[in-house]
Amino acid sequence: MGLFKNLFGTFSKDLAIDLGTANILVLVKGQGISINEPSVVAIQVDKHGQERVLAVGHEAKDMVGKTPGNIKAIRPMKDGVIADFQVTELMIEHFINKVHGRKMFSAPRIVICVPYGLTQVERKAVKESATNAGARSVYLIEEPMAAAIGAGLPVRDPNGNLVVDIGGGTTEIGVISLGGLVLSKSIRIAGDKLDAAITDYVKKKFNLLIGDRIAEELKIKIGTAVKLDEELRTQVRGRDQVEGILTSVDITSEHIREAMEEPLRQIAEALKSVLEEMPPDLAGDIVQNGVVLTGGGALIRGLDKYLSDFVKLPIYVAEDPLLAVAKGTGRALEELDLLQQTSFDDE
Ligand SMILES: Nc1ncnc2c1ncn2[C@@H]1O[C@H](COP(=O)(O)OP(=O)(O)OP(=O)(O)O)[C@@H](O)[C@H]1O
Ligand SMILES: [Mg+2]
Repeated sequence: MGLFKNLFGTFSKDLAIDLGTANILVLVKGQGISINEPSVVAIQVDKHGQERVLAVGHEAKDMVGKTPGNIKAIRPMKDGVIADFQVTELMIEHFINKVHGRKMFSAPRIVICVPYGLTQVERKAVKESATNAGARSVYLIEEPMAAAIGAGLPVRDPNGNLVVDIGGGTTEIGVISLGGLVLSKSIRIAGDKLDAAITDYVKKKFNLLIGDRIAEELKIKIGTAVKLDEELRTQVRGRDQVEGILTSVDITSEHIREAMEEPLRQIAEALKSVLEEMPPDLAGDIVQNGVVLTGGGALIRGLDKYLSDFVKLPIYVAEDPLLAVAKGTGRALEELDLLQQTSFDDE
């Protein structure tokens, strides 16, 4: 028995996958995170219309917006839904194979955290992709639960905890108590919408056309949710909408704050509405425990302060918010009892 268990532990390489709309992370049981790449696939279409995968992950993301006519850089999952099933499957298989190589002693068990609110059809497709890639069994976990576990919250306690995961496609708000999701809300306003708001703003304010990549860079480099004591600034290059020429303008953190104001307010409103729906006993717990932020959006400058001013509660940013969901999914994989208690389904 001991040997058997050991063999499994050593060679089956059970996996936890955070299948995010912006980033996909793969964690190998007992080894930690081994893949952390953008959820992007570059596909080449030949003259017969045949499609071929050219690149996946980082390499593919670098091609976004720069591809010649016969190459498409696809983000197969958008706004928290699977926009392209086939390419999503290709991507999942690519990364599972990359981790496993050819040395698969026994088929792995895989826990996958999927965007919250996927349809049954989408969930089934994700499971099938992992099965096709060689999984022995596939479990799905809901993102707010994985985020809460990954943020180190005591999810099994009879004590309410509130987590807000701001990813690329969706913001998920979940209240967790006794190992279950008591209350949750998902809105399709997250990192991608912030980027789009920045693109729109720059276009209106400066007549400057910029791509998604540049908008995201601005958000990360100088974006802020609150007024900063010392403004940040940078130069941004793009095409002048009127003259058609390539030019550059100076942009400040205050511009980006203004650009992101509306979508950030919508995230704050969503949090507020969950707080308003909360059963009184749990509300008391949240007042005590505060709110934890995970996902890449948690890294927006001053977002904790902004949300705290809005809902009048303490707001904390999880350690390594971009890794929280993957870590939580990994913990679920490790702890079988946790696996059975939390919101898994294996239909
Ligand atoms: N330092 C930063 N400041 C602001 N935003 C950031 C920062 N770093 C990453 N992001 C944003 O975080 C988002 C990606 O976060 P994350 O990896 O948690 O999303 P995801 O899990 O792939 O998406 P989802 O959970 O919606 O499916 C992107 O929109 C990215 O621009
Ligand atoms: Mg996510």
